[in-house]
Order: sequence, then structure tokens, then C-alpha cells
Amino acid sequence: MSKTTYRAGRHFLQIPGPTPVPSRIERAMLRPIIDHRSQQFAEFSKGVLEGLKGVFKTKNPVIMFPASGTGAWEAALANTLSPGDKIVMFETGQFSLLWQAMARKLGIDVDYIASDWRVGVDANAIAERLAADKAHQIKAVAIVHNDTATGCCSPVEEVRKALDAAGHPALLMVDTVSSLACVDYQHDGWGVDVTVCGSQKGLMLPPGLAFTAVSDKALAATKTAKLPRAFFSWNDMLEPNKNGFYPYTPGITVMYGLEEALKMLNEEGLDNVFARHAKLASGVRAAVNGWGLENQCRDAKYFSNTVTSIRMPEGHSADAFRKLVLENFNMSLGAGLSKVADKVFRIGHLGDTNELTILGALGGVEMGLELAGVPHREGGVDAAMAEFGRWAKAKVDTAAAA
Ligand SMILES: Cc1ncc(COP(=O)(O)O)c(C=O)c1O
Repeated sequence: MSKTTYRAGRHFLQIPGPTPVPSRIERAMLRPIIDHRSQQFAEFSKGVLEGLKGVFKTKNPVIMFPASGTGAWEAALANTLSPGDKIVMFETGQFSLLWQAMARKLGIDVDYIASDWRVGVDANAIAERLAADKAHQIKAVAIVHNDTATGCCSPVEEVRKALDAAGHPALLMVDTVSSLACVDYQHDGWGVDVTVCGSQKGLMLPPGLAFTAVSDKALAATKTAKLPRAFFSWNDMLEPNKNGFYPYTPGITVMYGLEEALKMLNEEGLDNVFARHAKLASGVRAAVNGWGLENQCRDAKYFSNTVTSIRMPEGHSADAFRKLVLENFNMSLGAGLSKVADKVFRIGHLGDTNELTILGALGGVEMGLELAGVPHREGGVDAAMAEFGRWAKAKVDTAAAA
């Protein structure tokens, strides 16, 4: 008998991005490629660029590179800074670690505030650095809004307040790769200078597009910034973008998907999208508590609404557990990265997802814990169901009262 490779039912991709691409978006991407120098393309492209502004909540242009989020990181630094410039970053997890490593490679002098990967950015620590910098040598504060490795989400507004309180002119740069279009984010309203994102998480698209929202101050910084940039030059992109064109071949197929994703986000309404993510996250956290397991993020102030990182009890391998879950229940869970490799597993609860999908995922985790002999209490899934039930009841009651 031949060995079967087909696995019935859908694969549960519960990693915190790339997230499953909804079929509406898949279908939109099936359209034929058109001439990217044609007027037809220009009209389509202008609509997409305009639509992106609403997601970032900015009036300024959003820059889009055919790249992954890492490309937008590099562009943010290279377009605004010069070799030897000093910047401040905060250690929230693997993604702050990688961004600061990139900054150092580019010749930037990084003051990286150390932490234990279990909390978000401490705005007070940043305020202290800014207050001490009377000569205004710090050129930027760069933080990761939602560190996908740890499930810690940082208070961007508090960091803005720290800059304002110190009367410090440093640019504020924020990575929103795993938070945009999932939790509230206001590029203009919060006074952020550079916001970077990628296509493959909250925007429900395949990987391949990198986005950057920019303030007037960030655009002004490009005039004096001396770091070399070529492919990632903002100005080389912004000029042709005014007419809907690109300095090189754009990612047309993913842009078709983006147009559809923007429609879907608008149909649901961004506030409803944020509320849905808050609800799903609270269900996942209820399950984690129910199992008696520990959230990698140790302070509720920083809990992420898009990903929960769960610590494995001492002596148990998170990677062996994930492997067992994949083999037995056809579900991919997020791996622990670098410092927490094999110590945590992550559940992604972002993008095109709902209560029943999350309950399926939590069911797979609970069965996996049992199968792997990981010490835990029963009832995590029940706790999540009770949590979702409370949200549903509140909605029904509100509708009845209206
Ligand atoms: C918060 C965060 N920043 C940056 C990145 C890097 O983005 P990419 O892998 O698209 O280059 C990721 C990737 O997962 C991320 O989660």
C-alpha cells in the first residue's frame, strides 16, 4: 500500500505570520499581470497607495517596497541617519535584537537598553536617556511595537510623551510588522516619524511587500542623512509614486491582494478588527491560565493581542511539543526564537481568524500537551469558550439595549 501524503481538512497555520490568506484575497491575486507602465496600472496603484494611508492613519504618503519587513527596517535607518549617529533601542525580543544588529552593521551607534524579553518598552528608561542627552546627540528612538518573539506589545504613545517631555528632537521609529491592522495604531496621531510594516500578518497577504509611513520630519531628514541607499531610497520611490508608478517593477500580484485586503478591512471596520483581535487574545490567555502555563509576557500591561508566547514547563522541549502537534493534528505553532528557542511556543491569533478557528487551535494545543506529557491542568479550551461566550453575551445585550 502506498504511503499517503494527503492530509484531509485544512492545515492550521497558527504561527504569528505569515498568516493564512483568505480566499477572497487569493482570488484577487489570480488576475492577469498588466503593464506596470500603463495608465491602467497607475490608476490601480494610486488607489492602493491612498487606501494604505487609512490603515496607518496618516495623511502622508506610504512607501511600498517589493521586500519583506526587514527591507523597510533598512530603509528607515538608511534614509534618515548618517554613519556614527547615535540611536536608542529597547530589548523587547528577537525583533528588536535583529533591528539593532542591522543598525550596527550600517555603522549606527546603538544604545540598546537591555531587558529580559518578558516586557515591552519601558518608556521611563527611554526618558532617562533623552533627559541625559542635553546636546541632542540621539538622532532616533527605534522600537518594536509588538515583538512577535515574546508577545510583548509596547506603549508607543508613552515613548512619544517621553520625547515631548524632554523636548528632544530625535525621530521616533516604530516597527508594526505584527500589530498593524490588528491593534489600534496612529502614525500621525501618536507623532510617529517612521512606521514600518510587512504584508504577511495583519494585512492577510503573502509575504513580499514592505510598507513605510513617514512624517514630514522624517522626509526632511533624508536631505541630510548620509547613509548610502539605492534600492531602498524613499525619494526615488516617492517621486514616480505621485503618478502611480515605481522606479522598478512593483509586486503587482501582491498589490492585487492588497487592494482586496484594504476592502475587507474597511468592510469590517478597523475598530471592529481591533475589537476582534482583543477578544481572540483574551480567549487564548484564558486558555493559557486554564492550563496553568505561563505567558512569556509577564506584565498584563504589555500583553499582545496578536501573538501569545507560552513558556514550556522546565525539562520539556517546546520544539518536540510543536513537532508532535504538527504530526498528529496538522497544526503549525510558532517556534521560540534565539534566546527562548525550545523554551516557548507561540500561538498566532492575528489576521483572518475568528473564535472557532482559535478554539480549534487551542484544542490542538490541549491535546498536544496531553500527548507530550507536559504537566498542565485540563480545561484551557473550556476557559476560552467561556471567555468568548462572555464577549458574545455582551454584544447581544448591547444590541438588545439599543
Ligand atoms: C515584529 C517583526 N519585525 C520585523 C520582522 C521581519 O520581517 P520580515 O521577516 O518580513 O523581513 C518580523 C518578522 O516576523 C517581525 O515579526
